[in-house]
Amino acid sequence: MSGERGRRVALRTRLAVVTSAAVALVVVLTSLAAFLAVRHELGRQLDRNLASEAARVRAQAKDPEAWWPSGSCRYAGGPACIQAVDADGDVVTEGDETLPVDEGARQVASGRRGAYYRDITLFGRPVRLLTAPIPHDRAVQIGLRSDPADRALLRVGAVLLVVSVGGVLLAGLLGWAIARHGLRPVGRLTATAERIAATRDASTPIEVTGADELARLAASFNTMLAELDASVTAQRRLVADASHELRTPLTSLRTNIAVLARADRISEAQRDRALDALDRELTEMTGLVRDLVDLARGEEPAALLEDVPLVPLTAHCVRTAERHWPDVTFHLHTPADGSGSATGPVSGSASGPVEAAVVSGLPARLERLIGNLLDNAAKFSPDGGAVEVAVSEEPGDWIELTVRDHGPGIADEDLPHLFDRFYRSRSARALPGSGLGLAMARQIALSHGATLTAANHPAGGAHFTLRIPSAV
Ligand SMILES: Nc1ncnc2c1ncn2[C@@H]1O[C@H](COP(=O)(O)OP(=O)(O)OP(=O)(O)O)[C@@H](O)[C@H]1O
Ligand SMILES: [Mg+2]
Repeated sequence: MSGERGRRVALRTRLAVVTSAAVALVVVLTSLAAFLAVRHELGRQLDRNLASEAARVRAQAKDPEAWWPSGSCRYAGGPACIQAVDADGDVVTEGDETLPVDEGARQVASGRRGAYYRDITLFGRPVRLLTAPIPHDRAVQIGLRSDPADRALLRVGAVLLVVSVGGVLLAGLLGWAIARHGLRPVGRLTATAERIAATRDASTPIEVTGADELARLAASFNTMLAELDASVTAQRRLVADASHELRTPLTSLRTNIAVLARADRISEAQRDRALDALDRELTEMTGLVRDLVDLARGEEPAALLEDVPLVPLTAHCVRTAERHWPDVTFHLHTPADGSGSATGPVSGSASGPVEAAVVSGLPARLERLIGNLLDNAAKFSPDGGAVEVAVSEEPGDWIELTVRDHGPGIADEDLPHLFDRFYRSRSARALPGSGLGLAMARQIALSHGATLTAANHPAGGAHFTLRIPSAV
């Protein structure tokens, strides 16, 4: 469990780190972009000032005799200095200090090169220098101190650095908060799963808030919990019901065994009766246990399904029922009859090969299902009563199997409970049985994708219908 907790913490940390890193990256990149933009703009502004100064000088220098002063770059008072050079590189203006004259300046003066900018250091200060052509084969050099702009840039850089560091710290805080808040539902889910694992109690659902992905996850988790709970409850009830139901036959078994234990003191007739009862009770208990095992088994494994021709299977079930219930007459109607009319006792009628009505399923299970319906019909039939069994093909690839008897039918209040486990109507309690037959029949039907319903025939008697998908 501590390993799971460790993974959860690690996930939270990972989420926090990823979120913070993303936000921090955006903050740092934005600051860097802002810094570069400011630097570029300040540089451009310096160059624009120099260019407009050069244009002014060019206009003034049309007159070769015009006098214009050269400013000094040495003193802070004059940020600009200016001088003119001729094609030989000689400074033609007067001034305290001269700006450095390079080959480029001579080329500009002689008209072999256009204006250009340079960064130089003058008296220990950074200076931006523009050399531009002016009339009379001269070039003007204008220097402008760039340290005020550099200082401004430094200030902007410092502000942006503070903003970035603050942004990164804030991003870390936000990432941590987002991870903490975002993973809270996951934490709740984990806690619930751990609780269920520890207590095996799946009855308390998780609280679902909102409609996001995690809420949907919680909702599906709840659905899963509900199903788990239902299945656990069903299993518990089955075991409780089963142990209750087994108690009665076990008691009578014990009584009869006790009777037989006194074999020397009872008459032969009494002993035979006790043996008969013992035999009956053992048969009943064997059936009960078999039904319970079947019910607990649930779904059919799909791999074992095979094509089952329903008519021969039904005919086989009818023959078995005829042997068990010699006082009842069974009639089987099949698709091959055409007319759908009664054909008399099955042993004489269902001998012809019938290809139609093939379903996909487990023959043994389907036999139990049909056997249970026939058993009920015969059990509730009056002596000499008739049971009609019909197999017919329905539109939409369905096969319908109906079993109808001429007994008392089913009371309206019993109809909704007929397929419940251990349910037996009041009138049926005098007859043998445990009330598992129909529950099992319906379970088999469901696992074959079929439906099993009960009704009363308009002309009297119970009428059971099995609708099962055709396999062809
Ligand atoms: N053909 C029928 N006519 C009248 N009532 C029926 C018929 N079939 C079933 N029932 C009613 O439905 C109840 C449940 O039937 P089910 O087959 O599950 O149990 P059972 O026959 O009593 O016992 P088991 O089949 O386990 O031996 C019966 O007890 C009876 O009340
Ligand atoms: Mg039954």
